Amino acid sequence: MFDIKDLYQEIIVDHNRSPRNFGVIDDADKILEGFNPLCGDKLKLYIKTDGQNINDIAFDGTGCAISIASASLMTDAMKNKSIDEAESLFNEFHALITTEDKFDSEHLGKLTVLAGVKDFPGRVKCASLCWHTLRSALVGDNKPVTTE
Ligand code: FES
Repeated sequence: MFDIKDLYQEIIVDHNRSPRNFGVIDDADKILEGFNPLCGDKLKLYIKTDGQNINDIAFDGTGCAISIASASLMTDAMKNKSIDEAESLFNEFHALITTEDKFDSEHLGKLTVLAGVKDFPGRVKCASLCWHTLRSALVGDNKPVTTE
């Protein structure tokens, strides 16, 4: 029987309890909301770029432990990345949580703690909500992102 606790490793619990980069960036140039209509979870991303690099990134909102932990880990990983690097990290992370492909654990760092969600399709949406929101924000979309 599936027990969500099986997924909760120490890092996930920590990032859910004390999310990093939680808050608002007043002078963000990209702000976008991500929404999971099935559960009602809503995250908002604030990104400050210089057009080519992510100089600062934060989020707020409400979500399940996996979605909050994923947003916390993602915002940590994205700080000071170029927008091109962000896109390739998105692709690597997406493969990590949806495929059995080998992954570069050194490059993905702490993000690998979310690899276990691939066995639980419902949880893939939780972990990827903030990532799809980030990707849309970076290409300039301003329509809220939904997981459905
Ligand atoms: Fe809503 Fe996880 S239950 S995003």
